[in-house]
Amino acid sequence: MLRSGLIALSRSRWLGRFISKNPVAWRGASRFIAGETIDEAVAAVRELNASGMDATLDFLGENVNSRAAAQATSEAYTEALDAIRANDLRSGISLKLTALGLDLSEDVATQLLRGVLEHAAAGESLPVTIDMEGSAYTDATLRIFRAVRADHPHVGTVIQSYLHRSAADVQALARMGARVRLVKGAYLEPPEIAFQEREEVDAELVRLIGMMLAAPARAAGAFAEVGSHDETIIEWTREHALQHSIPSEAFEFQMLYGIRRDLQRALVEDGYRVRTYVPYGTEWYPYFMRRLAERPENVGFVIRSVLSEGRG
Ligand code: FDA
Repeated sequence: MLRSGLIALSRSRWLGRFISKNPVAWRGASRFIAGETIDEAVAAVRELNASGMDATLDFLGENVNSRAAAQATSEAYTEALDAIRANDLRSGISLKLTALGLDLSEDVATQLLRGVLEHAAAGESLPVTIDMEGSAYTDATLRIFRAVRADHPHVGTVIQSYLHRSAADVQALARMGARVRLVKGAYLEPPEIAFQEREEVDAELVRLIGMMLAAPARAAGAFAEVGSHDETIIEWTREHALQHSIPSEAFEFQMLYGIRRDLQRALVEDGYRVRTYVPYGTEWYPYFMRRLAERPENVGFVIRSVLSEGRG
């Protein structure tokens, strides 16, 4: 109930405008967000790199409703790519197609995405991953991914294990030799198209990871990115790789900024590749609400930081 309520609230533009200008709310959100500026994001990535983690920068924003806003997102990503190169960081970028104008048209989003990909490919190629949003966008996202991949083979995307369709999608992506981040899924989806029980979502995630790590997929060039903080999923992946003699360079673990830093560090110490997803920017409200929805205890954490601010 709390999860669905928080996800529903994450779509409120009115509440978003109110919350994101509130410095007390920022105190709670800043656990999950590196900062509001690219300089703060660069500082966060530098620290992660020094601890052995790679990164992927996410300029926050989604569902823009004007061409100018979509253009501004693509410029922010150009700036991020320049900052990664100028500061010699080990980082790529992750982006949402609705931040590049997918609600306006597929053409707008594709054209702007191509510009970002060209910038990422100029010189030393930097990895670009297309995040997966709610199910209304799954088909368009995969269509655009396939279209741009013809010219940019290193672009990656994301598949959510809660969707019934995902095994078929992963099968096709594995055959293409694609780079795919596998996650449980962060949006609210109905039972007609998505598993509702945690056990089902977890079991499906394990199945999808297995598909991406299978020998034919790896031979085709597929690269699995396990996007989860779930220790059972991570342990399963490690065991599976050991049992099938899959080298640790053949996949990577990915986690979100501010979540399970201990686990991120422990995996690096054990010799695994770890990439941290580093969101930054002023449009942090929907991202923040999805992080609260994933773990209801976070709501208590935020209320406590708000109350302590009130006292002092
Ligand atoms: P689960 O939710 O079961 O959490 C396991 C444990 O991790 C918890 O017990 C807790 O300790 C910790 N944890 C998890 N979430 C936490 C939180 N918010 N706060 C504090 N602790 C938390 N989704 C999507 O739909 N599209 C996308 O493109 C992406 N992209 C993406 C990138 C990366 C790098 C990651 C790690 C995740 C995503 N996600 C995503 C989000 C994903 O779908 C999922 O909602 C979250 O990762 C939470 O699921 P877990 O697998 O971590 O397991």
